[in-house]
Amino acid sequence: MVGPDVLPAWVAEMDYLTAPPVVDALTRLVREGGTGYPNFEAGGAVGDAYTGFARRRFGWSVPTGSVMLAGHSLGGIRLLLEHWAEPGPVAVHLPAYHPFLDLIPHSGHPRLDLPLDPDAAEARMDLDQLDRAFASGARTLLLCNPHNPWGRAFTREELEGVRDVVTAHGARVIADEIHGPLVLPGAAFTPYLSLPGTTEHAVAVVAASKAFNLAGLHCAQLIVPAEEFRERLEAAPFLDRLGLSPMGITAAVAAYAEGDPWLDALLARLDSLRAQLGGLLAEHLPEARMRPLEATYLAWLDLRAYGHEDPATVALDKGRVRLDPGAQFQPGLPGHARLNVATSPERLAEIVARLASAIS
Ligand SMILES: Cc1ncc(COP(=O)(O)O)c(C=O)c1O
Repeated sequence: MVGPDVLPAWVAEMDYLTAPPVVDALTRLVREGGTGYPNFEAGGAVGDAYTGFARRRFGWSVPTGSVMLAGHSLGGIRLLLEHWAEPGPVAVHLPAYHPFLDLIPHSGHPRLDLPLDPDAAEARMDLDQLDRAFASGARTLLLCNPHNPWGRAFTREELEGVRDVVTAHGARVIADEIHGPLVLPGAAFTPYLSLPGTTEHAVAVVAASKAFNLAGLHCAQLIVPAEEFRERLEAAPFLDRLGLSPMGITAAVAAYAEGDPWLDALLARLDSLRAQLGGLLAEHLPEARMRPLEATYLAWLDLRAYGHEDPATVALDKGRVRLDPGAQFQPGLPGHARLNVATSPERLAEIVARLASAIS
C-alpha cells in the first residue's frame, strides 16, 4: 500500500465508475437476494451475451457452446496450464504481465522466456525466436493479445505467423485476450481463435473485467471450441475451478449486452489520454521512449536515458507517484516502468509532472 500523498498509477484498473447498465443489474441482484452461490450452469447466459458482443465489436462468431466460466482470469489460466497444457515448458513473451512469470512454474511448467529487444523500434513477436522455443521443447505459448504491457494489438498477419509456427510444431496456445475490448482507434482486435486452423490447438481467456472495470467481481470466460478439451476441463477437480461470483456473472451479462455506448465513450477518452500522455512526455520527459499505445490503458515507458536502474522506485520515493517497475515484467530489465493513463486529464498531468521532477 501507499500513503494518501501518493498518486496511484500502477494497478491495472481505471479511476472510472463502471457502465450504468452494470450498476443497475448489480443493484437489482443485491436487492433481490442474489448474493449466494453462483449458478454454475450460467455459461449459457454469459456465453450468449459474449457471443453478441464479439459479433458486434470484433466481427467474430464465437463457436457455439464453447464458453465456459472461471473465477478471475488468472484462475482460468492456471486451470488451463494445470489441466489442459501438455507437460513441458510454456513460452511467454517478455516483458509480460508479471503474475505470468510465477504462474507458469507454479502450475508445474518450466518457463521459456521470449524477450523483446528493448531497442526494437516496434514491439513485434519474433517468429524465429518462437520457432526456436518450440524446437527446444516448449509445448505451449501463453499469448497475450492485445499485449500488456507492450500495448500492441497484434495484426491478423502476425497472429497467422504465430499459428503457422505453432501448427508446425504440434504445440498449443492459451490466448489471454482480456484486453480485447480495449483496442484504441486506429488498431483492431483479432481474436486468435477467429483464425482458421486454431480451434484444434488453442483456447482463449476473455473477461469484461478490464474493459468495464470489474476485476473485483470474478467472472472470466474460457473459450474452448474443441469438445474434447471442454470435457477435460469439466473433469478437473471442483477445487481447481472455484472463484466464480454471481455478481461477476450478472455484471458480465449486462456489460456485454448493454455496455457498448459506455465502452465507446471509454475508448474515446482513452484515445485522448494517450495523446495527452504523448504531449506530456514530449514536454517534461523528452528522452522517454514510448511505442504507440494501440490497446489497453497501460503505457510502457523506456526511461533508460534518465540513468536510473528503477525509475518507478525513484518516482515513488522522490515524487510520491507510484508506477510499476519494469523489472517486475522482465527480470533484470533496467530503466522501464508501466504507467496507467485511465484517470482524469488533470491527474495524468500531475502524474507525469511528478515523475519528471523525480527522475530528471
Ligand atoms: C494480461 C492480463 N491477464 C490477466 C489479468 C488478471 O485478470 P484477473 O484480475 O481477471 O485475474 C490481467 C490484469 O491486469 C492482465 O493484464
